[in-house]
Amino acid sequence: MEKLLIVDDSEDIRKQMKWGLAKDYDVSLAANREEAVAFVRKHRPRVVTLDLGLPPDADGTSEGFLTLEEILRLEPTTKVIVVTGNDERESALRAVRTGAYDFYRKPIEIAELKVVISRAFHIQAIEVENRRLQIAVENKTSQFGGIIGQCPQMEQVFATIKKVASTDVPVFVTGESGTGKELVAKAIHTLSLRKEKPFIPINCGAIPENLLEPELFGHEKGAFTGAHVRSLGKVEYAHHGTLFLDEIGELPLGLQVKLLRFLQEKVIQRVGGREDIPVDARVVSATNVDIAKAIQEGSFREDLFYRTAVITIHLPPLRERGNDILLLANLFLRRFSEGHNKKIKGFAPATIEQLLAFDWPGNVRELENRVQRAVIMGDSAFLEPSDLGFESKTAATASEAAATAMTAMTVPANITLKEARDRVERDLITNVLHEQDGNIAKASQVLGVSRPTLYDLMKKHGMEQ
Ligand SMILES: Nc1ncnc2c1ncn2[C@@H]1O[C@H](COP(=O)(O)OP(=O)(O)OP(=O)(O)O)[C@@H](O)[C@H]1O
Ligand SMILES: [Mg+2]
Repeated sequence: MEKLLIVDDSEDIRKQMKWGLAKDYDVSLAANREEAVAFVRKHRPRVVTLDLGLPPDADGTSEGFLTLEEILRLEPTTKVIVVTGNDERESALRAVRTGAYDFYRKPIEIAELKVVISRAFHIQAIEVENRRLQIAVENKTSQFGGIIGQCPQMEQVFATIKKVASTDVPVFVTGESGTGKELVAKAIHTLSLRKEKPFIPINCGAIPENLLEPELFGHEKGAFTGAHVRSLGKVEYAHHGTLFLDEIGELPLGLQVKLLRFLQEKVIQRVGGREDIPVDARVVSATNVDIAKAIQEGSFREDLFYRTAVITIHLPPLRERGNDILLLANLFLRRFSEGHNKKIKGFAPATIEQLLAFDWPGNVRELENRVQRAVIMGDSAFLEPSDLGFESKTAATASEAAATAMTAMTVPANITLKEARDRVERDLITNVLHEQDGNIAKASQVLGVSRPTLYDLMKKHGMEQ
């Protein structure tokens, strides 16, 4: 049986709780901070219930808060459920901001408390598992220049990078803005035999057309007004290394011809020069425009496409990467909280739901920015939706709980997000109905939805009433 620690200064309540919970848990009792801390140090329980009014401050909360902090310092993964009197809403919220998992208001209804406790065990297991996974993923992907991903599409991306890196074939990377195209280009370079040589990026969309040619191919002295000295272009700088042509779809047609010649003959001419200069550079290109359409419309040469896209790597939009969203969110959270010296423990359940449901038009870059902003602005232990610039919802709803449970389904994601969500929703409703002996009114209360909503959900999942 799972170890559960109950901390309360009232002997009656300790007895009542032990009596009610001993069937399901290996219950231990503590009457004050010293006993509680000693138990946690020795037995590391995964879940603790904590009364805030402990002696010598039985009428206040100071001793309770000290206990909470010490428990979390000893065992940060422990879920502490704060049990409070009816008029202590403020302290309850403060406790959650301090890092308590949840609060429960007296009078104690064992059946109800059981649901809260069993959820806490469930969430604790998910979090520990996620942390383990996170570390495994980060170790594994550190060889890919820090590209994080576990979903099948990203596995495919890694496999392709590995295969092409040691060759010299041109690679064409596609994907929406912020999906990691530059990161992939760098990974290809880092994993190649050219890794000690330069990686030279050039953004074809950011430079005015008349400056782009000398930027790419260099110019001889006196090639144009202002060309006082000979200057090398990016292509030449990439000699023996890798040339990254970012936003290649923006390349003007005239330069497309010149680039094509370089790819075919491995020589360039500087602007104002006549000499053919041999250059050995591996070319990786990227675009976030629909290149097939650009070819159809005549703004991108088909022959250049076939030359640059011997291999294509497509990066899926973030919204299609399932649990990778949480892996990335946690990575950025850790990175930024270290940077800003903040002690943030994670994301609140409602935030996790919104992270998974959001559309992410700006993809990984947007996620990175939102988490950074949240780390700077947020001041609760678990970041709230509003910290990330999402609309916040207050009540814990069935779908929120479902989303939290979602994090459990980490990798075996060969099902879609919607299927997973439906499955968790159905299981949760079944469990709660069972626990409440089929009492719809009680079940809807526990699930935090209205009765009509629960009826609708049951109908949706084809459940008998
Ligand atoms: N899978 C990933 N793991 C970790 N970090 C990532 C991942 N994908 C992207 N990033 C980070 O997200 C940011 C955007 O990535 P990057 O610049 O490579 O995107 P891009 O596709 O080139 O975007 P754009 O089309 O806007 O140029 C970078 O800070 C990058 O480090
Ligand atoms: Mg880019």
